[in-house]
Amino acid sequence: MRLLSLSLRDFRNVHEARLEPSARSTVLVGPNGQGKTNLLEALFLLCTLKPLRATRLAELVRFGAERARVQGDFEAPGGVRTVAVEIGPEGRTAFLDGKTLSSSDRLDAFFEGRAAVCFSPDDLLLVKGGPDQRRRFLDRAAFNRWPAVLTEAREYLRALRERNAALRHSAADVEESFREPLVRAGARLVARRLALLDELSPRMAEAFSQISGPEAASALLAYRPAAGLQVDGASEEQIAERLAGALAHRVARDREKGYTSAGPHMDDLLLSLGGRGARPYGSQGQQRALVLALKIAEIENLRDKLGRPPLLLLDDVSSELDPEKNGHLLRHLSALPGQAVLTTTDRRLLEPAAGEGAVFYQVRDGVFERDLPPVIPGS
Ligand SMILES: Nc1ncnc2c1ncn2[C@@H]1O[C@H](COP(=O)(O)OP(=O)(O)OP(=O)(O)O)[C@@H](O)[C@H]1O
Ligand SMILES: [Mg+2]
Repeated sequence: MRLLSLSLRDFRNVHEARLEPSARSTVLVGPNGQGKTNLLEALFLLCTLKPLRATRLAELVRFGAERARVQGDFEAPGGVRTVAVEIGPEGRTAFLDGKTLSSSDRLDAFFEGRAAVCFSPDDLLLVKGGPDQRRRFLDRAAFNRWPAVLTEAREYLRALRERNAALRHSAADVEESFREPLVRAGARLVARRLALLDELSPRMAEAFSQISGPEAASALLAYRPAAGLQVDGASEEQIAERLAGALAHRVARDREKGYTSAGPHMDDLLLSLGGRGARPYGSQGQQRALVLALKIAEIENLRDKLGRPPLLLLDDVSSELDPEKNGHLLRHLSALPGQAVLTTTDRRLLEPAAGEGAVFYQVRDGVFERDLPPVIPGS
């Protein structure tokens, strides 16, 4: 679903902006600290309702302003649809064609056909960081693939919060009544993640060997549930039974600690190379290539399953990768038929890869100004 125009109001350091992105590459150029990543963050919010890097939504509101707003016009099969997200003191509100969305069925319509994948310098945390980084990736990727995951994940979080409160404050039989909804929602989430990994694993292995050469060690993704739960090849029903068993087994410990110690909120994802964990054993370059391969796998999978590539957001990629991997990534991405928004401090780094129809914007102090297209030699 193509993005035709984008407007921001009081979002981060942007007071007011309107951009008309290219059907292919849009490049944001400017020195450090001017608002390039802020614009990607606005786009990510518009496509996923999630902040890209902010830990609190309130960070997205321009200093001194009351509310932030991002709005986009998307070309859809039935005509143009206007999607907007506002962040105010009351939290986040989403709008589709001017109408507030509250119920979950409307939310599915909101997300229909819109997925976004972002490459950023922080991606290396997927390998180097804690399990929360990997769970975040899994949930975002699952949500890109199946928008219903947004509601399912919320249900799980609610059930988790309620059970944790019961662990701390209620009698044993009261706590028990909170387990069933937690187990149901938890098994659903784990099943989604497993289904996603089944789709992504072979694609990642393939992408990794393309980036690193056929002799490179094979790359693998594996789900690592907390509390020693066995979920390989299990159905959602079986996962639920096992999770219920684990919670029953651990209830005394959980009551003592005051939180639930098994379930998808504790699980991890293992990225490995040649059978060894990439975190303890992979080199810096291998780790980067692995993350890149994982993202390419996600893009390829979305393209295949949804019938079109997701919106790609590339933050400062060229500064992060060695020229060879950078070349590989940009070649791969420029061959995709979808839209991409890229940021750079040095326009020359991206000019060769931006391709035909690329649109350039200069970014200064939160102001976006359309720039001249590059001169393509020989045209
Ligand atoms: N809520 C906010 N209100 C106003 N300004 C903000 C807000 N949040 C962040 N900023 C400002 O936005 C600027 C950073 O913008 P951004 O991260 O988009 O920079 P950038 O152009 O991507 O730079 P770099 O090339 O260094 O990555 C900082 O100057 C920061 O102070
Ligand atoms: Mg930046």
